Amino acid sequence: MSDPAFQQCIKPTCGATYAIDDVRYACSACGSLLDVCYDWSRCRVPKSPALFNDRRGAQPDTPAGRLDYSGVWRFRELLPFANSTNLVTIGEGRTILQQADRLAIEIGHKPGRCFLQYEGFNPSGSFKDNGMAAAFTMARSLDRGRVGCASTGNTSASLAMFAGNTSTRAGEPIRAVVFVGDDKIALGKLAQALDHGAMTLQIAGDFDACMRLVREATDRLDLYLVNSINPFRLEGQKTIMYRVLEGLGWQVPDWIVVPGGNLGNTSAFGKAFVELRELGLIDRMPRLAVINAAGANTLYELFTERGLRWNGGQVDDRVVLDHYQHMEERGWAARTVATAIEIGRPVNLPKALRSLDALSGVVRQVTDEAILDAKALVGQHGYGCEPASAASVAGLRLLLEEQVIAPTDRVVCILTGHALKDPDATVRYHANGGRDDVAAPHANPPVQVPAEIEAIEEVLRSC
Ligand code: F0G
Repeated sequence: MSDPAFQQCIKPTCGATYAIDDVRYACSACGSLLDVCYDWSRCRVPKSPALFNDRRGAQPDTPAGRLDYSGVWRFRELLPFANSTNLVTIGEGRTILQQADRLAIEIGHKPGRCFLQYEGFNPSGSFKDNGMAAAFTMARSLDRGRVGCASTGNTSASLAMFAGNTSTRAGEPIRAVVFVGDDKIALGKLAQALDHGAMTLQIAGDFDACMRLVREATDRLDLYLVNSINPFRLEGQKTIMYRVLEGLGWQVPDWIVVPGGNLGNTSAFGKAFVELRELGLIDRMPRLAVINAAGANTLYELFTERGLRWNGGQVDDRVVLDHYQHMEERGWAARTVATAIEIGRPVNLPKALRSLDALSGVVRQVTDEAILDAKALVGQHGYGCEPASAASVAGLRLLLEEQVIAPTDRVVCILTGHALKDPDATVRYHANGGRDDVAAPHANPPVQVPAEIEAIEEVLRSC
């Protein structure tokens, strides 16, 4: 194979390889997921991360400057699957790692040891833009004009924004088709898909139904699928970890804590660290904590409760099938206030198990109440986030209580989406004075005041 980049089946006993431009979302020999792989000896990877740091100050006013400005493509040597003329960017990945001392104190962690990675600062307001830059690059390399996804909202928002801002090689607009669950998507995200001109199909069903349908549509129609089952998406999402490392001066943290939905991030993060170690850019691995919402806890059930493991690539599929059958028999469907991660059948499950293996991972579940309380704390002491993102902080709090994570451990929680994605959830938490049954501990309800200065003065006395 002349190209140093290729696709490969993740199952070690299969290992079938495919050319980089061979469009498929599963191995045709055994049906497993595919990785994008590299013969690193034929790629030009810098010996130290200094080059990536140097690019951070780039100005986006020239084509080369735009690539360096991108928080994805300034690491392009670490995801070298495309010709540089096809790299697509809309200014993604300029995100912030915040040392969150006040939050740390609130949740029983040590100041100086707790960090939040704000991926909500991406152009479309979520981490998805990292992956979408890579997926659209592939769409352009393949010269595809119609791009689609199933989504709980953020993938569709990101896809729609990228489609609105890019074109085919012939300069034609890229058409976006998104499948979202009827009544299942936060308003901010639906608004984005509509605003950016995507054809938005509201399916009478949940994310899992959308995912099933979009895969069928991909096979039948001329649709390039950019869900995280597309391995190129995950190449872009590796860069979230590069930026975390950069924020820590390339010192590896003790833990990465991430919400788990379709498990794309979980998969991408593991791949990022395995490759960095292979390339000698880091000398040790962090541990990984994946946090499910209790109402969408498939990974928790399988990994933590039923002991399912990567097992050198021999995942016991019977355990998974048995679990899914049990879900169906009970009529169980995922349900959580964190709608972004309301997913029952995560497509990247085997890759996530591989990451958990490589990074000595743990999986926990947290209640909707714990998620909303953690979200309120992130808002109070930082830049805010949407409910699904706060699962990471709720998970950190739980793991501190369990003493799995020590207060002295250096921990990075990934905040995957912006607070304005789902303002309803925020207002419900604060404005109703909390929850129906118990008072929410961090609620900040608006105060009704007569239009009189004396009344305002009275209220402000307690401020
Ligand atoms: N956080 C947010 C804000 C998300 O939108 C998602 C996934 C996740 C976490 C979970 O990430 O799938 O990599 O485990 N949202 C997808 C969507 C499913 O369609 O927008 P994951």
